[in-house]
Amino acid sequence: MTDKYAVIGNPIKHSKSPLIHSAFAKQTDQDVEYSAIEVPVDALQSSLIQLRDILKLKGINITVPFKEQVWQQLDNKSERAERAGAVNTLIFNEDGSMFGDNTDGVGLCRDLTVNHAVELKGKRILLLGAGGAARGVIAPLLGYEPAELFVANRTASKAEALADLFNDLGHINGGGFDDITPGFDVVINATAASLQGEVPPLPDDLLAEHATCYDMMYSDNDTAFISWAKQHGAAKTIDGLGMLVEQAAEAFHLWRGVMPDTQAVLQKLR
Ligand code: ATR
Repeated sequence: MTDKYAVIGNPIKHSKSPLIHSAFAKQTDQDVEYSAIEVPVDALQSSLIQLRDILKLKGINITVPFKEQVWQQLDNKSERAERAGAVNTLIFNEDGSMFGDNTDGVGLCRDLTVNHAVELKGKRILLLGAGGAARGVIAPLLGYEPAELFVANRTASKAEALADLFNDLGHINGGGFDDITPGFDVVINATAASLQGEVPPLPDDLLAEHATCYDMMYSDNDTAFISWAKQHGAAKTIDGLGMLVEQAAEAFHLWRGVMPDTQAVLQKLR
């Protein structure tokens, strides 16, 4: 029998996840079906039960705006999901219980270090933003033992609070955009500013030589942050499409026990 999965969100129409997971399934010869389901913003809990009991899904991915809400509702979570404060992958177990995980951080790190051969160990990393997207990638980034991870946010107190929350895992500090010093090797944009075509106010001498700039957003044209990076001498600019495919691959692996080849799917999407 075909096992069913889905991504839930609101809105969800433009999600690329069904395309990605269908490609994974074909490639690995797995008998799975993957759809996109729009869930009303005020009906998450009842929707989860319906997805489990009526549609009989085996698992779901969760996207905006439900990742934090699902995290709050689940008791049973992986350590990395617990840390991330958000759940992007859920397993409906045979006994009806639900298990939450988060593959976003590992997706970003794999895209950076494997697909783009960017070194993180010993580097100075700047993370822009202190919302859910930023929080989800902090622990995996610190796992690479950077010399420093600085979290900068429009609301400085939120970045400081995040730094406090993760300071047992490595060298992490937080502050406002005014507190950013020159010479970062890797700059990752996790703000929602790109959505509005804006770039946070960054110093002109922000980038070290050979710096990499990564925007978690992606679009067919350069995002505002990618344009800024090119204008300010970034050696490498990367958008978030690879992260999307890598987090999906990790979720697929969790559900099916096989790791798909992400390169083939990425090429198809580009
Ligand atoms: P997400 O889950 O995508 O991270 P979020 O939790 O709403 O969404 O967080 C959005 C992030 O983008 C925040 O860090 C926010 O800064 P504030 O904490 O000061 O609100 C940041 N952000 C949104 N619009 C921005 C803009 N125009 N310039 C700079 N930062 C912006």
